[in-house]
Amino acid sequence: VFESPEAAAKALAAEFAELIKSRAAEGKTAVLGLATGSTPLPFYAELIRLHKEEGLSFANVVTFNLDEYSGLPREHKESYWHFMHENLFNHIDIPAENVNLPSGTVAEADVPAHCDEYEKAIVAAGGIDFQILGIGRTGHIGFNEPGSPKDSRTRAIHLDEITRQDAAPAFDGIDNVPTSAITMGCGTILDAKKIVLMSWGEKKAAITKEAVQGPISDQVSASFLQEHPDARFFVDTAAASLL
Ligand code: F6R
Repeated sequence: VFESPEAAAKALAAEFAELIKSRAAEGKTAVLGLATGSTPLPFYAELIRLHKEEGLSFANVVTFNLDEYSGLPREHKESYWHFMHENLFNHIDIPAENVNLPSGTVAEADVPAHCDEYEKAIVAAGGIDFQILGIGRTGHIGFNEPGSPKDSRTRAIHLDEITRQDAAPAFDGIDNVPTSAITMGCGTILDAKKIVLMSWGEKKAAITKEAVQGPISDQVSASFLQEHPDARFFVDTAAASLL
């Protein structure tokens, strides 16, 4: 539990920097799993600061994002491709070819093959060393809405109404929010060697409590983290208020 999102983000970014530097010293890559949404913004701001002010290089970093909205081209202002470039990639020295996100524009018939390729690319990169997560009010990690099995893999998913409502302001109304997305599965996420879920603010207190102290259930996919050997929650005092 941290006093503020900024304090938590700073501690988490220091862990990332350590991993990136130790891998670079061995001439190896660090494979990072990334999330979008408002939660990781202070964390990305701190990574950018470490790059600009302290010379942290991302030249040996490979990234895989959790998810992407279906139907949105990369240029769309709400696509996760756009979000990641605006808020992180455009400000650091990561090679463009090291960045991976599911595509929002593959034809429906090609989605299973695309998801399979995404899984294979993660394995080919050596697996995810460190995955960061936010949590939705439905308890989702990635877009693994209630009912997502623990062993689910990267696939298309129908977005829950609560998730769409939460996204509505950014899309100028719920009618503009995509109804589906491509997401890494719970199983894909749980394969990561190390995981940190971030949660800030009073609005997330109830679901954070369920995820940490509630029963392990596919109705709250974040609860599966209770069984992971190296998963932690980084929360601010408001999100921790019901624990
Ligand atoms: C985003 C993602 C989602 C978000 C969650 C919380 O890539 O996978 O699980 O982390 O919906 O969103 P925010 O941070 O906007 O509250």
